[in-house]
Parts: sequence; structure tokens; C-alpha cells
Amino acid sequence: MSTQAEPKRSVGDRFRQWWRERVPLHRVDFRELTNEPVPNHLRRWWFCLGGTPAYLFVVQIFTGILLAFYYQPSPATAYESVATITHHVSYGWYFRSLHKWGATLMIASVILHQMRVYFTGGYRRPREVNWMIGMSLLVCTLLIGFTGYSLVFEQLSYWGATVAANICDTVPLIGGTLKRLLLAGDEYNRNTLPRFYILHAAVLPVAEITLLAFHIALVRLHGVTPLRFEDEPPSRSETFPFFPDHFFTELIIGLVLMIVLSVLATVLPAELGPPADPLQTPEVIKPEWFFYATFRWLKLFSATTAVLSMGLIVFVMFLWPLIDAGLRRITRIEDISEYIGIAGTLTLIGLTVWEAAVAH
Ligand code: HEM
Repeated sequence: MSTQAEPKRSVGDRFRQWWRERVPLHRVDFRELTNEPVPNHLRRWWFCLGGTPAYLFVVQIFTGILLAFYYQPSPATAYESVATITHHVSYGWYFRSLHKWGATLMIASVILHQMRVYFTGGYRRPREVNWMIGMSLLVCTLLIGFTGYSLVFEQLSYWGATVAANICDTVPLIGGTLKRLLLAGDEYNRNTLPRFYILHAAVLPVAEITLLAFHIALVRLHGVTPLRFEDEPPSRSETFPFFPDHFFTELIIGLVLMIVLSVLATVLPAELGPPADPLQTPEVIKPEWFFYATFRWLKLFSATTAVLSMGLIVFVMFLWPLIDAGLRRITRIEDISEYIGIAGTLTLIGLTVWEAAVAH
């Protein structure tokens, strides 16, 4: 029988052992988890745009929760509650403005990220499914934006939602059902706003988080598509570890974004238009900037043609990795997708600027 006493361990050591038993993730495992090789082109920050919408989404959740403490989603109280947040709640104007600018920057960065993926061919085999998940993220993000602007219950919120419902109505066969689903009835009623709220603050964010989890998991499983630049020395290693280099790049982008957001929120705070009046149609009804191109498209054609052609465009975008592979095989033009991408981008910018420039 041994009479030697066990060496006395410090409280720190005992806590560490207690913790390791409960969370059996050791330093080496952690390093392996975070040290995934990242292709060299991600040293350039403009290729790291995928992290930007993710960061902004976190800002949206945080500021959204603060706004939800005061927002009251019914036609009788919504506008007043937003006015209270803006004028009376401490820093309410600031967090509301952060939420509004965060939405704008998030949508802009999703579009820029999608463009970078498109023009670098990051959607090609074997990443086709991740492109489709990305397209679902784009639709989800735009819907969060749309439902969010409807919550303020100012004139443009009310009339924007009414116009959107009438557009849904023009879809052949299912139009009426879509409209009723959106408005919770045949026309805007007291159940419409709570429906927008539950979509905006619960259903769509949960869908976005689920899609994001799959998106990032697939990015990790495939790795990011490597790109080679002519100015890079051939001997240089093709990858670098995620931690700490890439992690710090993302951290700096996050900090810069926080400063930009804060400056925008302070210099150009969110305003409040006239309250919704179902009896008075405003002279100009305009959606938010990210729907300008769609709105202009609707004005160019009859409602049914515009809606069906837009549906077709979104469908083609979803299936683009498959269509692109077929097109390149048939035409044997390697850069065909780039030409189509440039034409699409110019059309999108053209329609957006056109809608922004005209009063009606
Ligand atoms: C909330 C929106 C989104 C977030 C947070 C996000 C996040 C990311 C991140 C972090 C990456 C890793 C590479 C990088 O930083 O660029 C990535 C890659 C990728 N994303 Fe997204 N993404 C979003 C939306 C989209 C959309 C709209 C599409 C396209 C329709 C898309 C398609 C892809 C594809 C195919 C890759 C792999 C690219 C490659 O390997 O080069 N993503 N995404």
C-alpha cells in the first residue's frame, strides 16, 4: 500500500481538468479545426466578401432583438412604436439606423459576393449545390429586407406591400393564393402586419441561419476554389492557414464595417415618412433600392409577362451551374458565362439607375 500523498493541484489545474472532461476538445484538435488551408487569393480582402454578409447578419440579429423590445406589430400601434423608438427610447434612433443601414449593406454585400463567385467560376463542379443554396440565401435575404420595410407602417410600407400583393396576383394559376398568403386575406387587414413580423423576425431568419450552416459546411468540405494570379511567384505556397491570417483579415473587415455602419447611422439616421393611409395613394410609390430593377422591369412589360419572365430569370439563375456547363460544351466558347454575366450585370445596373433617376 502506497503512503505517498498525491501532489496538490492548483484550483486552475483542477478547473482545466474538469472542463476538459466535459468539453473534450484539446488544443491540437482546435488547431486542426481552425487551420484549414485557405487559397492565396483570399489574402486580397475583396475576395473575402462572403464573410461580410455573415458579419452583418449578426449585427441585424443583435439590433433586431433590441428593436423588438419596443416594436408593436399591429396597424394601430406599429407606426407609433417606431416613432417612440426613434424619438424617445435611449439610443433607439441609433440602433434603428444601424439596423436599416445593416440591411442595405448586407444586401449589397450578398450581391457583390455572388458576383465574385460568378466571375471566378466558383459555382462550377463540384460546387453547384452550394450555388443553389447561395441563391436560396439571396432570395431569403431579399424577403427579409422586403418584410422589414413593411413593418414601419408608413405610407410606402403600406402601399409597397399592396403593390407587391397585386404583382403576386398576376401569376397565372397560383396568383390569388400567393396574394392571400402574403396579406393574410384578400386585402391588407389587421392580420397582415403580424404576418410580416413573424416572417421577418422568426421564419426567414431561421431559414437564413439553416441555409448559412449548410453553405459554410459545404465551403469547408470543398474548400474555396483556388485562383492563380499572373503576378504571383510560382514558388509561393498555394494556401495559407485559416488561423490567424484569414481570421484577422475577417476581424479587420468586421471592425471597419462597424465603423462605417456607425458613421452612416449617425450622419444619415433612419427617418420616418408619413403614416400609412389606405385611403390616400401616394403620388410616387417606390420600393427600396434593391427592388428598383424589378420595379422598372414591371413598368416595361405587361404585368403577367414581367412576372413570368422574372420567374424564369430566377429559375435560370438557380440552375446556372448546370446551364453554364451545357452552354460551354455546346458552344465551345470557354468565356461564354463571362459575357452573359457582364450583360446581366450591366442590365441590372442600367435598370436600377433608370428607376432611381425617374420620379415615377
Ligand atoms: C447571407 C449570404 C451569404 C453568406 C454569409 C455567404 C458566405 C460565404 C463564405 C464565407 C464563403 C467562403 C468564401 C468567401 O469568403 O467568399 C462563400 C463561398 C461561396 N458562396 Fe456564399 N454566402 C452568401 C450568399 C451566397 C450567394 C447569394 C451565392 C450565389 C448564389 C453564394 C455562393 C457561394 C459559392 C458557390 C461559394 C464557393 C465559392 C468558391 O469556392 O470560390 N453565396 N460564401
